[in-house]
Amino acid sequence: MSEVNFSIDGKTVHAAPGTSLLFAALDAGVFIPHLCAIREQNPPSGGCRLCWVEIEGMAEPVPSCSQTVREAMVVRTRSPAVDRLVRAGFEMLMSVHRLDCKQCPANRRCALQDIARARKLPLKPKHLAKIEPDFPIDLSRAELALNPNHCVLCGQCIHVCRDLVKKDILAFAFRGLKTVISTFDAQPLAEQDCGTCTRCADVCPVGALYRPTK
Ligand code: FES
Repeated sequence: MSEVNFSIDGKTVHAAPGTSLLFAALDAGVFIPHLCAIREQNPPSGGCRLCWVEIEGMAEPVPSCSQTVREAMVVRTRSPAVDRLVRAGFEMLMSVHRLDCKQCPANRRCALQDIARARKLPLKPKHLAKIEPDFPIDLSRAELALNPNHCVLCGQCIHVCRDLVKKDILAFAFRGLKTVISTFDAQPLAEQDCGTCTRCADVCPVGALYRPTK
């Protein structure tokens, strides 16, 4: 089928029918903050609430990962309303994120740093009290570590482990502010059936799952 043609911030973009607006934008080199969207996951989880855009004809901003491209749609990635929503979502995330970038294995390749840089947002929330998490770090496996204090609950590791590797070792545990990524019954990574797999570390956008350096 022929491509869908539309515009993002005045730039003409082409994408295959059915493509999510978020990934069409990213593929066209237009940055939209995002953490939880997965290309092959439809519908998206929509958990991070960062990927807001305005679409002409819609009364309110919408998460771009929840939209598919339409012919002649007119999309704006920045507006006062979009910026307010992105800022609010980012501040919420950062208010419960341990900010120790210099010690973090994801320093300089972290999605949170990318978003802060692109949208000129402070990494330290200005309007919310900071609640620094203090979960234990799992260093039981030499080739893979889990630091829940850096986790943004995007769910990418769960998707890879469950849907691609077919192991189902990682899952969300607990509720509310206590929600973490965990193994079953919080057993150490070294006791899981991971083999040599470290693919969850490949998709972690922050420094929560990583390969420790010796
Ligand atoms: Fe759209 Fe997370 S990427 S809600």
